[in-house]
Amino acid sequence: MKIVLAYSGGLDTSVIVKWLKETYDAEIITFAADVGQEEELKGLDKKAKATGASKHYTLDLVEEFATNYIYPMIRANAVYEGQYYLGTSIARPLIAKAQVEIARKEKADTVAHGATGKGNDQCRFELTYMALAPDLDIIAPWKMENYRAEFPGRAEMIAYCAKHKIPVEASLKKPYSMDRNLLHISYEAGILEDPWFDPTTKANKEMFKLSVSPEDAPDKPEYVEIEFAKGDAVAVNGKKLTPGQVLKTLNKLGGKHGIGRVDLVENRFVGMKSRGVYETPGGTILMQAHKQIESLTLDREVEHLRDGFIPKYAELVYNGFWFSPEREMLQAMIDESQKFVAGTVRLKLYKGNIITVGRKSKYSLYDDKIASMEGVKSWYNQSDATGFIRLNGLRLRARSLAQGGPKV
Ligand code: ARG
Ligand code: SIN
Repeated sequence: MKIVLAYSGGLDTSVIVKWLKETYDAEIITFAADVGQEEELKGLDKKAKATGASKHYTLDLVEEFATNYIYPMIRANAVYEGQYYLGTSIARPLIAKAQVEIARKEKADTVAHGATGKGNDQCRFELTYMALAPDLDIIAPWKMENYRAEFPGRAEMIAYCAKHKIPVEASLKKPYSMDRNLLHISYEAGILEDPWFDPTTKANKEMFKLSVSPEDAPDKPEYVEIEFAKGDAVAVNGKKLTPGQVLKTLNKLGGKHGIGRVDLVENRFVGMKSRGVYETPGGTILMQAHKQIESLTLDREVEHLRDGFIPKYAELVYNGFWFSPEREMLQAMIDESQKFVAGTVRLKLYKGNIITVGRKSKYSLYDDKIASMEGVKSWYNQSDATGFIRLNGLRLRARSLAQGGPKV
């Protein structure tokens, strides 16, 4: 048996390496994805091998994450339940895909992950494994009774590491769980489980890593210009950048001005509600800028039709159905709509706010000659509006008469 494990080097996955090896008498290959979490990934190879892995992979997936996952999602304006920009959700399918690619390369028969059996991440990992490598076996220790019986708490895990000489830093556990990548940081569980607990007070605000709070942001606003081509941001303040660089640049800018913090209660796929706090500085700016350039360049019917699919698209990403025929179908439709979504948006960042101040495009559908009363005579004739409204009102008149006549 050969297992490829999604590994972070923390206490949980360190215990899992050893436990899998002992329980299944298996060869363990560990894999860590760099998706912009800015954590120390350097020492991981040594650490994994000292823990019992035969081989370790660290892959830099930052540009792939930005280009093939974050950008398509921004083209869709995807936001879950109106508030969550899906930062964790969108990273999981990429990590799982890279993991099964390693499994193929290493001729492994099994993949494993350390997500708990309570949340969304398990769904995202396992649905991706199933979609891309249906024949692989899946092990998720947290969902196995014997594993949970052996490790009812952190103390047992620490004792297990000491017994097996597994190198783990005796870092103080944060009173919440954190997941960081290029798009966001999420905070949940622990002290945040009380939905009334306020993490923004002076005493608690140390939690936030990507942004200052709006009240601590500079008193002077800052302008930023974002250029789009085919629905994708390609330059910031006139400088051409890769998708990864765009996000890094906007994260810094947005963070400085206290942009992109959200505190919400969301519905997990498995049925429970969960309280989450998020920092998505760059993603929030990108999303607003994208909507602005669309407002100038998208046809009304295309825009409204696409808007109707956003909740569904966001739900697919949230629930872990990135590699599904329905997400791919929606993506094809969305990408088709973006062909002429190009131009520049100008925004002002100020104390947690993104204020749109301008937009321009060579494909602009906004025609001031049509909108202004001067009009292109032959295209818009005010007299036409009389018939237009009369015919639209016909059924309203008919219904009113049929249902008892005038009410006022
Ligand atoms: N609730 C968010 C989501 O489902 C964040 C999950 C964070 N995951 C984690 N392992 N800390 O996307
Ligand atoms: C986990 O359960 O591993 C984290 C939370 C989630 O996946 O929703």
